[in-house]
Amino acid sequence: MATCAAASQAVWSYKGKQQWKLVLLPVFLILVHLIPVNPVREDGLNPKSRKRIMPDLLTEPPAIDPVYEAQVYCNVPSIAERSMEGHAPHYFKLVSVQVLIRHGDRYPLYAIPKTKRPDIDCMLVPSRKPSHPQLEAFIKHMSKGSAAQMDGSLSSLPHFPSHSLCEMGELTQTGVVQHLRNGQLLREIYINKHKLLPSDWTAKQLYLETTGKSRTLQSALALLYTFLPDFDWKKINMRHQWSTIFCSGSCDCPMRNHYLEEEQRRQYSLRVKNSNLEKVYVDMAKIVGIPTRQLRASNPIDSLLCYFCHNVSFPCTKAGCIGMEHFKVIKRHQLEDERERQEKKLYFLYALLATHPLLNQTVNRLQRIAEGKKEEMFVLYSAHDVTLSPVLSALGITEARFPRFAARLVFELWQDGKRPKEHFIRILYNGADVTFQTSFCKDHYKRSSKPMCPLEKLVNFVKRDMFLIFNSTSYYDACHRRAL
Ligand SMILES: *[C@@H]1O[C@H](CO)[C@@H](O)[C@H](O)[C@H]1NC(C)=O
Ligand SMILES: *[C@@H]1O[C@H](CO)[C@@H](O)[C@H](O)[C@H]1NC(C)=O
Ligand SMILES: *[C@@H]1O[C@H](CO)[C@@H](O)[C@H](O)[C@H]1NC(C)=O
Repeated sequence: MATCAAASQAVWSYKGKQQWKLVLLPVFLILVHLIPVNPVREDGLNPKSRKRIMPDLLTEPPAIDPVYEAQVYCNVPSIAERSMEGHAPHYFKLVSVQVLIRHGDRYPLYAIPKTKRPDIDCMLVPSRKPSHPQLEAFIKHMSKGSAAQMDGSLSSLPHFPSHSLCEMGELTQTGVVQHLRNGQLLREIYINKHKLLPSDWTAKQLYLETTGKSRTLQSALALLYTFLPDFDWKKINMRHQWSTIFCSGSCDCPMRNHYLEEEQRRQYSLRVKNSNLEKVYVDMAKIVGIPTRQLRASNPIDSLLCYFCHNVSFPCTKAGCIGMEHFKVIKRHQLEDERERQEKKLYFLYALLATHPLLNQTVNRLQRIAEGKKEEMFVLYSAHDVTLSPVLSALGITEARFPRFAARLVFELWQDGKRPKEHFIRILYNGADVTFQTSFCKDHYKRSSKPMCPLEKLVNFVKRDMFLIFNSTSYYDACHRRAL
């Protein structure tokens, strides 16, 4: 979750050191169906209702398995995954799909000082695992891409990773394979089954946008390659987004900065309260031979996750080795931080303001398509954890985990074949249907026979209701009004 840092850096760079707090204490969301947050006890009371009776029971957090959570985060390609994308009654027609991805597995953004960097090869080698049947063809196709239209600085970025020792932040072969798999899965559902695009699709039917990092551009190209095999480079128009929250021309929002600072204060105070974590930092700093402060600032969890995801043993020095026990304590803290973040709501307020411009753009596009416009039916935003995480939070999908490598969030727009004026949306996160976890569709679920959410619910949320909590009716007003 150093990506937190990296990405925040782009938005918050003027804040200097502030951003580190976000980096060091990244945040994880817990999926209820895997790790019960409120398990029902044998006495029939869940921990929440017990809270009022015996508050001290709550100091013991429900079990968190940091190693399991780290494996989920790595998302190492293995068996084919099941997904709920494209499920609808037969008389519904799919008219648009908008996808927001996090880049795939990458090399760390920061090195742990005075240790050898993990030895990971960023050359693409189809015979090396993890691989993909289309990897070789992908490399060939990427080498031919000079006809693509790429905004500004994107045109100077390489189309695929190619260093025998990865550069900092570089996409790895694992990361490429993750998105080749995403693209293939989406192709099978949206192109082969639902015919979202005709075989002679045109540039206007796509909208593609990426941040200016090679890992996001390359992730987008890998997904596109299997989604639209051997695509014509002349039809690819890749836009560049300078902001990691995709706020484009609407980035001025003082209250968003305010809530983020408050959230960072919350993270900081949780960290300093955690004496186990402090001990681990002191211990690791001794091993490495640097001041604790410097170790903490090097954001070691980001590097350690890279060792972990690539099954490389943690680094050693003459003074000892960094070990699994260190890793588990830091990872567990991340998960606890994520849990507290959910409860305290500061991040939620930040997220509403941070994601409005992107959601507004998405909703405008969905409305145009619902009105019959046949453009930008497939949209791909290639982004970071700091892009996806606030979108999940703003939509109210609080049960979702923190975005893993190559995470995908999909908005599907469906037309009711029996009442062609009526349009519905589905929202999917890593293949799971989360439509009815959203704040604006929770109640609809109880009343509706259709497994979908009316488009107006999302429109009303984005255009109006997401500002109610700020006692405002517009983005501009919410951004500039001081909290009482
Ligand atoms: C990880 O590495 C160890 C030895 O370094 C090996 O025994 C083990 O099988 C590897 N695990 C995976 C999943 O590759
Ligand atoms: C939201 O979309 C509308 C178009 O419907 C546009 O006029 C407005 O500027 C957008 N607001 C923001 C903050 O992006
Ligand atoms: C909105 O107004 C209510 C009541 O006037 C107040 O309690 C609350 O703090 C306000 N919220 C914000 C974000 O200003």
